[in-house]
Amino acid sequence: MNKLFSHPISISTRLIFLISITLSLALLLFSWIMINSVILHFKQQDEYALSQISLTIRSFLSENTNSQNEQFSRIRTILNEHQNLVVYLIDQNGNVLTSPNATIDIISRLKNYDPTKDNADQYLDNYRLAESKIKVYRSNDIQQYRLVTALSLNFHHDYLNALIYKLIISAILLCLFTIAVVYFLVIKGLKPLKEVSDEIKNVTSENLSIRLDPDSVPNELKQLTISFNQMLIKIEDVFVRQTNFSADIAHEMRTPITNLMTETQISLSKNRTKEELAEVLYSNLEEYSRLSRMISDMLFLAQADNNMLTPDQKQVDIKAEITFILEYFEFLAEDNDIQLKMVGSAGLIFADKEMLRRAITNLISNAIRYTPKGDSVSINLTDVKNGIEIIISNPGKKIPEEHLPKLFDRFYRVDKSRQRKNEGSGIGLAIVKSIILAHKGSIFVTSDEYSTRFTIFLPYNYG
Ligand SMILES: Nc1ncnc2c1ncn2[C@@H]1O[C@H](COP(=O)(O)OP(=O)(O)OP(=O)(O)O)[C@@H](O)[C@H]1O
Ligand SMILES: [Mg+2]
Repeated sequence: MNKLFSHPISISTRLIFLISITLSLALLLFSWIMINSVILHFKQQDEYALSQISLTIRSFLSENTNSQNEQFSRIRTILNEHQNLVVYLIDQNGNVLTSPNATIDIISRLKNYDPTKDNADQYLDNYRLAESKIKVYRSNDIQQYRLVTALSLNFHHDYLNALIYKLIISAILLCLFTIAVVYFLVIKGLKPLKEVSDEIKNVTSENLSIRLDPDSVPNELKQLTISFNQMLIKIEDVFVRQTNFSADIAHEMRTPITNLMTETQISLSKNRTKEELAEVLYSNLEEYSRLSRMISDMLFLAQADNNMLTPDQKQVDIKAEITFILEYFEFLAEDNDIQLKMVGSAGLIFADKEMLRRAITNLISNAIRYTPKGDSVSINLTDVKNGIEIIISNPGKKIPEEHLPKLFDRFYRVDKSRQRKNEGSGIGLAIVKSIILAHKGSIFVTSDEYSTRFTIFLPYNYG
């Protein structure tokens, strides 16, 4: 019912259709009840009339003062005045009285009428019939009669036909009127929906900051506008990030390339010794590797964006993995007078070893960078429901609340004025997040005046 041909049926059509069907059924039921009660009423009326006729004829026949001939002629006179009534009266001697206006056909039918065999409803063609036996005492004699009366139903039928005709016409008119009213109401009722849809139509990439006003729409549409606004916020956020992203890439690339150009130009400006040239080349190599790292990071993120990161599903002992990474960072930590501690343990998980190594390395390298001299970075491992939890925490300055949700964005750094030499490009946490998400895990960061903590959840098996 939801689809007619290939298009979904419109709300107005559905409403009009349903209301018309309901109304038609209601009218049909109403007409049926009405016609049936009229028919029943007519039947009771006819039966009463027939019994009254039988009583009247009996009273005529009971009169002792007149002869039977006189009685019959008086009855005939009365029957003459009732065109819709046919009577067949026969006494024990075979004398017959019939209505003067009746046809032979109807008289013969009345004569042969047998209520036990014929229609139980005493209904014959257009007549309702009744039979009665009459006994009267006259001149010390018992006279017996058989009386069959028939009442023409033509009048009732005409009335019923007229009633049915009027009911049909009124039903059609009422249906048409209701459809018109419903159509009008539906169009009026759906107007706010059209207004909302017009407002939505006006949203373009240039004015993503537009918001619909949930208080100006009817209750039914409130949730829709709220959801739409939430969607706009998300789209705007992604859009702004995407726009900034290109600018950020250009910016990040420009600096090392400018450095390379300047250094090359200076070294070309006069004759250099072999050693001087080698020094320039070493310095350039640093910039090249920085650029190369950045490009491969970008490629990695592009893959993640296109859902093309498919981690290996190999068994990984995360504790052994972290121990290995900590050994790698040992010298750097010592140089900075920082201690690296690991506590707890966790079960084996199915994951991509290389990717996890990359993620954890990124987090530990950040932690070491932001830990004050003499303090320690700690890594906490625990088994939780359906997976493991890794918390990497380091003391240091609190990251202001407003930065936390954006920390995992590409090129996002808390302190933008910091010297580039000490800072990375701000892409590390974006990579960490895409790796964790590719494993169907989660990551979040909290920070207070004592420490900053990155909490990772990894399912035992992400597949
Ligand atoms: N452990 C931490 N303590 C305090 N601040 C942190 C910590 N880890 C990350 N941050 C903040 O989050 C920012 C983003 O980190 P991210 O790892 O993405 O970039 P980065 O380390 O600056 O560069 P990259 O990792 O690409 O070399 C950092 O610039 C820093 O301001
Ligand atoms: Mg980093």
